[in-house]
Amino acid sequence: MIISMVNQKGGVGKTTTAINLAASLKRKNYRLMFIDADPQGSATQWHAVENNNAFEILHHPEPLQKTEIEEISANCDYVVIDGPPAIGHITKSILAVTDLAIIPLSPSSLDIWSCWGTLEIIDEVRAFNPELKIKLLINRKIPGTRVGRDAREALEIFQVDILDTELCQRVAYIDSLTSGVSVMQYAPSSKAADEIERLCEEILPQIAMEEAQTEVQNQYEVSNGEVPHEEVSHEEPIEIPLWQNAYRG
Ligand SMILES: Nc1ncnc2c1ncn2[C@@H]1O[C@H](COP(=O)(O)OP(=O)(O)O)[C@@H](O)[C@H]1O
Ligand SMILES: [Mg+2]
Repeated sequence: MIISMVNQKGGVGKTTTAINLAASLKRKNYRLMFIDADPQGSATQWHAVENNNAFEILHHPEPLQKTEIEEISANCDYVVIDGPPAIGHITKSILAVTDLAIIPLSPSSLDIWSCWGTLEIIDEVRAFNPELKIKLLINRKIPGTRVGRDAREALEIFQVDILDTELCQRVAYIDSLTSGVSVMQYAPSSKAADEIERLCEEILPQIAMEEAQTEVQNQYEVSNGEVPHEEVSHEEPIEIPLWQNAYRG
């Protein structure tokens, strides 16, 4: 299962969410690989602070090949990908292999407007990855204000699922990253740690449900004498999407 944080805008919380979500999955004993696809390598720098061995991290600031990601995910329950702050070949290649794309954004009009661009690219990539699921995540909500609620209403225009869990603006997110750990390690009983655990628990059943649906569909197709999707997909000529060729010049 591949979960990616994408948003063409920087500073919306892709890296913060990716690191903490990965840490939460790891604490639940899932086998996990973290791919830092951002050329700036923020997650990789975070990982180096404490020589953190909470989970393995791979800095891969170039388009992902389908075969590469298949190899990595064969040995993992989850692959968490931290996307770059731009929409280009890297983000498109990430979306082409992702099961669940989370789009973090702050409850500000600037972030909400910039979401259109990210959603347009997602629509484009759907041709290669029709099963791609998308969820918006409200991050940096200021507790005790109506801003988060207003943003939720404004985001309905996109007709995309919005995660119930919201992450607030909290010092623990900043300080934990500086210390090279997750918010659960840094402040286990903090509100930030609670938000991340709730986020993880909200996402996991949805993933499990989708996996079960795919399983049922495959069984149905097998019982109808059809070849299951997975076997078909190996034959499909989408191994290297066009934008990757373009990127590699
Ligand atoms: N919920 C939050 N509360 C406080 N600070 C946050 C929160 N989310 C992100 N930040 C801070 O905002 C900055 C940008 O976040 P980051 O995760 O690097 O965004 P992106 O990866 O989208 O560029 C970082 O300094 C991070 O510590
Ligand atoms: Mg980042």
